[in-house]
Amino acid sequence: MTWIARLSRPGSAAASVPAADAGSDTRVRPVREVSGADDAAVRVRDLTVSFPTADGPVPAVAGVSLDLARSQITGLVGESGSGKSTLALTLLNAVPHPGRVDRGSVSIDGVGDVLALRGADLRKMRGAEVGYVFQASQNSLNPLKPIGKQLLDLGRSHRVPDLRALLSKARTLLDDMGMDAARVLVSYQHELSGGMRQRVGIAFALLLNAHVVILDEPTTALDMLTQASVLDIIRKVHATRRLTTLVISHDVGVIGDLADRMAVMYAGRIVEDGPTAQVLASPRHPYTRGLLTAMPRITGDIERAQPLPGRPPDLTSIPRQGCVFRPRCPLAAPGCEQAEPPVTVTGDHRFACFVAER
Ligand SMILES: Nc1ncnc2c1ncn2[C@@H]1O[C@H](COP(=O)(O)OP(=O)(O)O)[C@@H](O)[C@H]1O
Ligand code: SF4
Ligand SMILES: [Mg+2]
Repeated sequence: MTWIARLSRPGSAAASVPAADAGSDTRVRPVREVSGADDAAVRVRDLTVSFPTADGPVPAVAGVSLDLARSQITGLVGESGSGKSTLALTLLNAVPHPGRVDRGSVSIDGVGDVLALRGADLRKMRGAEVGYVFQASQNSLNPLKPIGKQLLDLGRSHRVPDLRALLSKARTLLDDMGMDAARVLVSYQHELSGGMRQRVGIAFALLLNAHVVILDEPTTALDMLTQASVLDIIRKVHATRRLTTLVISHDVGVIGDLADRMAVMYAGRIVEDGPTAQVLASPRHPYTRGLLTAMPRITGDIERAQPLPGRPPDLTSIPRQGCVFRPRCPLAAPGCEQAEPPVTVTGDHRFACFVAER
């Protein structure tokens, strides 16, 4: 049977309908589950993660489907509170309490169904398959132990048989990142600068040979020079280790600098994604356009730089019906309040907006 898929939002019409049923629906698209990443190392499908609120559970991640293309850098961008960290932590099967995965799947090469992992398998996956550099990781090291001891703890918790070899690998990694490894290994967190701590966080994520690495806001709170050098390091380790990398940032400039592909997140939804050059050159979703207009570093047009109007919603203020961007959208039109826009696919580029689709 020939299948035609309409990529849909939770609660909207079925995600795929047989060709015979497609009828006159002009939004029906040829099969293409998610754009571009034909060779994906990580596949997220229809993922919904919610947190309890006074009004009942509300999704912080709502029906997200996304591929991380093998050996590429994918950037995830969106304002604070859009659900980026919740999505990233779910890739580790580490949804923060009291969150809950309502629906969907996460599949990672060499791991399989991540959300089914428990106990030792889960611990092994975290570190040996997927390395994670936490948001604010500059402050997430143990303040009471020197870095070298913390590296040994990591090795022991993963039952690494040769701890000497592990330390020697850590030295090479730290040296490669432009640090004096001997000094770093005997230092406590407070003896290192923010940029050095971030590099140590990256070394921790790589030490056990993870092939997928997730960096959550790796340059936030760093000064511009340090930010540039951390971005260089991410580029370098990504390329030399042929990693599959996910970089998360609220700063579209960072994602534009670094990522091969990018996904834009708003109120728990991926509203646009595609090759970075294409999304930056021809953004389709009004939210992406707003992010770029607010960023003269990307557009090169300081005169026309304008902040996005309004504030990002929190869980209690996300519209329950219609397009979630509607309260801030300059293009909102009749109909936008009735249903969530379906995803339109043009080649490698996806976006979810009724008006951009026309
Ligand atoms: N542990 C938690 N308990 C309740 N709500 C949470 C928790 N973690 C995140 N949220 C809510 O989920 C939404 C998304 O948060 P988050 O994933 O941290 O966004 P981002 O990383 O894009 O800033 C926010 O509204 C946030 O308040
Ligand atoms: S669907 Fe309507 S409200 Fe939503 S982004 Fe598009 S134009 Fe704006
Ligand atoms: Mg975050």
